[in-house]
Amino acid sequence: MAHILDNDVERVLFSEEELKNRVAEIAAQIDKDYAGKEPVLISVLRGSFVFMADLVRQIHVPCTVDFMAVSSYGAGTSSSGQVKIVKDLSEQIEGKDLIVVEDILDSGNTLSYLLKLLQARKPASVRLCTLLDKPSRRVKEVELTYSGFSIPDYFVVGYGLDYAEKYRNLPYIGVLKPSVYGGE
Ligand code: IMP
Ligand code: MG
Repeated sequence: MAHILDNDVERVLFSEEELKNRVAEIAAQIDKDYAGKEPVLISVLRGSFVFMADLVRQIHVPCTVDFMAVSSYGAGTSSSGQVKIVKDLSEQIEGKDLIVVEDILDSGNTLSYLLKLLQARKPASVRLCTLLDKPSRRVKEVELTYSGFSIPDYFVVGYGLDYAEKYRNLPYIGVLKPSVYGGE
């Protein structure tokens, strides 16, 4: 508590405790689904780094991690539909079981683009894991296997999620005050 950034948050949507519990549930599901396998968890930077770090520590099956950076938003709060690969994976993924870890699924533009790109490299399987899902904003259909919380069309920050690159260090997920991004 007592974070100076708390002042820009209208209300807390998911507390640290709630996030921890839900992440543990997702990890338990992954453990069950990947028993006897060795999945590669691919974190889509930068938003998913906090979720990824908590998730891997709750997963017990052997796994490896890799990172990919894409940019989609600039400093605004809505998707441009334009996805750019800023950093590619470090490892080959052919024949591997992939779990793509995202912070939030919004329009679906980012994940549907990434999915096509990854499929072309012939992995054994690809599943998607997102902490948050805003189904009302979907433009492109994306099949989700693991989803933490479904939320209405709020702009949220914290736990890795940013607005103009800030607020990622808040330990909870909160709704940003519209006044912060020029709304009423
Ligand atoms: P999509 O391509 O529209 O699905 O956008 C997904 C990306 O947009 C996420 O990985 C986030 O980086 C960003 N994003 C979408 N909604 C929010 C939000 O409410 N807060 C912060 N970032 C968001
Ligand atoms: Mg992101």
